[in-house]
Amino acid sequence: MPTPHISAQPGEIAPLLLMPGDPRRAARIAETFLTDAKLVSEVRGNGCFTGTYQGTPMSVMASGMGIPTLSIYATELYRDYGVQRICRVGTCGGISSKVRVRDVVIGSSAHTNSPVATIDAPGLTLSLAASFDMLRAAVDAARSADDLAGASVHVGPVYSSDLFYSGRTDIIRALDRLGTLGVEMEAAGLYKCALEHDREALTVLTVSDHLKDGSGDMSPEERETRFGSALAIAAAGLLA
Ligand code: HPA
Repeated sequence: MPTPHISAQPGEIAPLLLMPGDPRRAARIAETFLTDAKLVSEVRGNGCFTGTYQGTPMSVMASGMGIPTLSIYATELYRDYGVQRICRVGTCGGISSKVRVRDVVIGSSAHTNSPVATIDAPGLTLSLAASFDMLRAAVDAARSADDLAGASVHVGPVYSSDLFYSGRTDIIRALDRLGTLGVEMEAAGLYKCALEHDREALTVLTVSDHLKDGSGDMSPEERETRFGSALAIAAAGLLA
């Protein structure tokens, strides 16, 4: 059953899957977060690893950047490998003044300029939203976490943009006014794939930069620690 983009054998990918953007991040998650993780696919250098987390089988595979590559992997994982839940774990640029660099943003829904919100139902836009059960479990874990080192957790809409580089500051201002927490490039595509295949998805993000104030870059060490807390919240969402 290998697919055009995944070479794992049937049963080699767990029903619960963590999905960072970066393939090297996926390999690090496999080494440091999962137990006994094994490489089960590496088409195009994008490793998929399966191990366990707190005794439950869990896989990790990167989405690449943007909705198009994420949609290829998420479709094949849900449709061909029987994956039940995918949790994207990544970074976003802060839009709202309520969020600061280092905070955790849990995407309860995703606005988007991508055609995934409109292409299947002309004349309207789909509401692309997280799985309620995963969201609840992740928010509960985040609110009871004692290792967020001063960072806050926010739950709300994010903006999945098809363009990383865009001069349309007017759009960001409008989204800010409408309570959008941050901008990234994948959540809406993941939520659409979950709808399409009647499966579940969630997005847990660390704020890596802020569009309004350009403040406070994180050191590489801090990025790693911060990423660890987001990962624990994401895994709690998967285990819901
Ligand atoms: N734009 C899009 N994606 C991002 C950003 C951003 O500013 N920061 C982190 N991911």
